[in-house]
Amino acid sequence: MRYLVNSEEMKRCDGNTINEFGMPSLVLMERAALAVYEELVSGGFDLSRVLVVCGSGNNGGDGFAIARLLHLSGKRVDVLFAGKPESLTEETQIQKKICENYGVNVGSNLNISEYTSIVDALFGVGLSRNIEGRYAALIGDINRSGIPVLSVDIPSGISADSGHVMGTAVKAAKTVTFAFEKIGHILYPGSEYCGELKLCAIGIDDRGFMGQVPGAFTWEESDIPKLLPERKAYSNKGTYGRGLLAAGSRDMAGAACLAGKAAYKTGTGLVRIYSEDCNRQILQTLLPEAVLTSYRKGEEGAALADALQWADACAVGPGLSVSSEKLEILQTIIRSGDIPAVLDADALNLLSVHMELLEGHRQPLILTPHIGEMARLTGIKKEELILDLPGYCHDFARKNNVVCVLKDARTVVSDGKSIYINTSGNDGMAAGGSGDVLCGLILGLLAQGIPPFRAATAGVYLHGLAGDDARRRCGARGMLAGDIAESVGAVMSWD
Ligand code: ACO
Repeated sequence: MRYLVNSEEMKRCDGNTINEFGMPSLVLMERAALAVYEELVSGGFDLSRVLVVCGSGNNGGDGFAIARLLHLSGKRVDVLFAGKPESLTEETQIQKKICENYGVNVGSNLNISEYTSIVDALFGVGLSRNIEGRYAALIGDINRSGIPVLSVDIPSGISADSGHVMGTAVKAAKTVTFAFEKIGHILYPGSEYCGELKLCAIGIDDRGFMGQVPGAFTWEESDIPKLLPERKAYSNKGTYGRGLLAAGSRDMAGAACLAGKAAYKTGTGLVRIYSEDCNRQILQTLLPEAVLTSYRKGEEGAALADALQWADACAVGPGLSVSSEKLEILQTIIRSGDIPAVLDADALNLLSVHMELLEGHRQPLILTPHIGEMARLTGIKKEELILDLPGYCHDFARKNNVVCVLKDARTVVSDGKSIYINTSGNDGMAAGGSGDVLCGLILGLLAQGIPPFRAATAGVYLHGLAGDDARRRCGARGMLAGDIAESVGAVMSWD
């Protein structure tokens, strides 16, 4: 598990390390500068002529220290000081003075095109408003120059809290950050502006939070074993849960098949698909392992109550279609009592015009909207939602007492308390049926007794890993949702 921090959390941790533990700020700055220096000399940058662009905040202080280290090792380096002399922080003033004492050329009007590499130390996590005027012009010149840029901490202009471009931003080839990744490194478009991201230790760790841990995290590969349901030698299919999947309609049998297959591939003992009668033959052919309960049009509710009694967890929505009969199915599931349920795809479309169904629900619910579905559920425009995916996801989860899985290039999950931001997966997963696989995966984990927030976050992470495996096998363009489902078992085979 790795924390992902926002600017306020990073500043608090920095401040506690300095003020409560007594670590001098100049020591932290020196270590940050040394880490960047190491990356520059070992990391494929042409250091024939280096320009370090410094602002007047402490990010600029890091920049001055980097320039001094390059200068002392015999490199040709100049500093473009773009900040305001009257706004220099105490530490940055000291670093600037040391640079000048060593004879580093510090100018305010240098010709960018003469350099072979640029170090961007204009703004770090202290960026507090949109970039305008001469700072914007300078960033434009840097980007147009085509010279490789290493950004210190975060590319200048990227919000550490959201990954958004604050007016304009430096496009880096590499970003060296310190202590913790910031949310803005992970979410798009910040992630693309960072180029290659390198995390370096500089003597700040989670003790600096002094018990007030950050609100956001991501899983990593070493967490997989603890995310998986336990397997036992002395067991049978009853040991590994029963998942009920209400899915599929006349033209959408495949969605039910993909979700059912993914649920089985997580290790679920039994998967029952509750679907329209017209899908009976195709589902039995494509997924013979599934138990099938089918219904004729107009007789939807009959067998559902029994199936719900049977199940340990339920998912509804993939390929379900939207009609008053399907609304009844959704209603029966939400009112059914205590088993956890995943509401996906058409279940969310039905819900968006019947939000009253969520009022007073008893069982744990996991909702898996993509941005378009989230816009329909909340009435908030997509353009607005993308400005703060973690915030909207968190608020929706808290307000409705659900786990919200907000699907995007970086899927965000919240239970109204913590925020999970996913870092696995790739663009090959942006294809029809990928969401059905995720729905089935979460259902499988729930059926095996994994608690809802853990099942949702682990499901999203494993779905991304399965996507990465499918991409290796089939290529980003060639992979289908079925290939992701196929890979689920492989990425869970750690026991
Ligand atoms: N346009 C113009 N000026 C702006 C804009 C803008 N859009 N946005 C912010 N600024 C200015 C402001 O004047 C702001 O200062 P203010 O807070 O007084 O208003 C300043 O830029 C912020 O500059 P930054 O260098 O981004 O912020 P900060 O001084 O907080 O430093 C830091 C960031 C700590 C260097 C961070 O990026 C980092 O972790 N670096 C590596 C670790 C490190 O060196 N840590 C110890 C440093 S010492 C210490 O923290 C006290």
